[in-house]
Amino acid sequence: MDIQKIINEEHQGKDPVCAYVYDLQQLKSHAESLKSSLPDFCELYYAVKANPDPHVLSALTPIVDGFDTASEEEMNKAGGERPLLFGAPAKKDREIASAVEKGIRYINVESLHDLYQINEAAGKSGKVMPVLLRVNLRKDVPESHHMMSGTPTQFGIDEYQMPDILKAAAGLDHVDVKGFHFHAMSNNLDAEKHVAFTGLCIQKAKDWAGAFHLDLETVDVGGGIGINYWDPGTPFDWTTFVEGLQQLEKEAGDMTVILELGRYVTAGCGYYVTEVLDVKENHEQAFALVRGGSHHLRLPAAWKMSHPFQVIPVDRWEKNWPRPGVVNQDVTITGELCTPNDVLVRGEKVDKLRAGDLVVFEYAGAYAWTISHHDFLSHPKPQMIYLNE
Ligand SMILES: Cc1ncc(COP(=O)(O)O)c(C=O)c1O
Repeated sequence: MDIQKIINEEHQGKDPVCAYVYDLQQLKSHAESLKSSLPDFCELYYAVKANPDPHVLSALTPIVDGFDTASEEEMNKAGGERPLLFGAPAKKDREIASAVEKGIRYINVESLHDLYQINEAAGKSGKVMPVLLRVNLRKDVPESHHMMSGTPTQFGIDEYQMPDILKAAAGLDHVDVKGFHFHAMSNNLDAEKHVAFTGLCIQKAKDWAGAFHLDLETVDVGGGIGINYWDPGTPFDWTTFVEGLQQLEKEAGDMTVILELGRYVTAGCGYYVTEVLDVKENHEQAFALVRGGSHHLRLPAAWKMSHPFQVIPVDRWEKNWPRPGVVNQDVTITGELCTPNDVLVRGEKVDKLRAGDLVVFEYAGAYAWTISHHDFLSHPKPQMIYLNE
């Protein structure tokens, strides 16, 4: 993608460049190839929380099997064209009622209290709500960046409590347990471990279904497939993952396995482009300060990592004083906020980086703009540019 050309065409020119660029064709091609490579017993849902931008959701709607949502507003954004799942750890009555009214495919149950709330809401509407029980496994969850299961967290139902929950559900008239939900981790980069985890989820679900005479319809293994921000040339091995899934087809029998992927679907289509405003040295370290920062792209600050980037040299320099810059040197790229935490890149080598050059942060299409604290310091928001709509 020729970012320089795009910026020249789209940027008004008076303020320093600061933009999110989304390549929607790249998104569609990537999502289509994920979807078409999955075996028939698997469905591809998109986890809206990774990027709820309406342009992104419209691009994905014809491709994915459905959307995973975590709030009433996400359900509204995902629209009514595709089946919805609703799962959130701290649900409000109003959101549950809305999910029931919309007739979504499943609500995830996160606790006994949650089960009773869903039963009550469905009862008020005279409906029976299909639900998945979200399990917090005790062990064998692959190590990854964020662990939501396999370790004590606020998410899901401890697998030791599953028999009690299943007994309680059997006594309720307005919930129907259709399966289990296992979202457990974030940014797993090991395809073989993801296959093993999927196999474990299928096995656990079958064991509970057998013991409690459930008509097991669905196992949702969640998302969690990662982006290798540290070494983008060595990505998650999707082909190995899909081959592993094919081996699980017999195990799965009649059930559907849902993958609700967020990061892996949208990260690659987003680019955050910023202009370098100043370059300087402090305590023998070089710093490049850009227009923008962690209030637009919080991920590298949150994960204390260097976000993958490229420098786009811009030859124009209209000031009548020397242009600050570094050559063949490690540089820390920071933003415009008054906090030392506003760091996008930590001491990475650049051939050349000068005030006025552009820095393009790649893999900025997921957990980027919407997880950032936009209003801190009240700087103008980045321009949003959508390509190939
Ligand atoms: C329940 C649930 N499903 C799916 C996802 C998407 O995960 P990822 O973006 O890692 O694929 C998340 C992310 O936190 C989640 O909480």
